[in-house]
Amino acid sequence: MSKIEWKPGNMVYPIPAVMVSVRDKEGKDNILTVAWVGTVCTNPPMVSISVRPERYSYKALEETGEFVINLTTEELAYATDFCGVRSGRDYDKFKECHLTKEEGSHVAVSMIKESPVNIECKVREAHKYGSHTMFTADVLAVHVDDAYMNENGKFCLENANPIVYSHGTYFTVGEELGTFGYSVKKVTKEKTATAKTSDRIGKERTKPRWKKSRKKK
Ligand SMILES: Cc1cc2nc3c(=O)[nH]c(=O)nc-3n(C[C@H](O)[C@H](O)[C@H](O)COP(=O)(O)O)c2cc1C
Repeated sequence: MSKIEWKPGNMVYPIPAVMVSVRDKEGKDNILTVAWVGTVCTNPPMVSISVRPERYSYKALEETGEFVINLTTEELAYATDFCGVRSGRDYDKFKECHLTKEEGSHVAVSMIKESPVNIECKVREAHKYGSHTMFTADVLAVHVDDAYMNENGKFCLENANPIVYSHGTYFTVGEELGTFGYSVKKVTKEKTATAKTSDRIGKERTKPRWKKSRKKK
């Protein structure tokens, strides 16, 4: 087995594909799908989206500097794709996709009610790099659907069936492998043996796969 070297390209996959909502100066709402989305900073909370200037939504982003990131789910997969292949120049995407508008509390942009998480953002800077302009933005507020809060007050996004995007294909998220720091967590033998499938510890992978399969030469 050997690696093939390719010309430079974008290969960070899988990634989220989010629906970004915007409103232009005339008050027209629109949605575009964005996969070039990322976390920039924890404190202050900042995100980025990279958008091509030829997108219809670009003008609204430049004019108002406001947008909402709406996370996507299996149920929203069709709308996610539609909003990424049809333009607001020709379609009212909220109407076409039967999406419900909810007014943002910090930005004058409609949030998508059907999305489990809406992130209100205010642009700080626009960096023009080439094909895309990266808008870095402050997160002003986050709205989460209380249907996904568990009895311990934890937000369980996995119950909303989030989707990811990889090399042109949408996927659902697979099985849980472990929680943050599990690789160094001390687990007693008895605990592992008695753990039920519903127990987090019982499901966590205790050794990386390559360690198990690599043969000694
Ligand atoms: C899965 C997916 C991801 C996309 N990611 C981006 C992106 O990161 N940046 C971008 O400018 N366009 C992206 N697009 C394309 C726009 O969403 C698309 O051109 C859309 O029709 C623009 O809408 P608008 O003209 O109403 O603004 C993506 C499309 C799809 C289907």
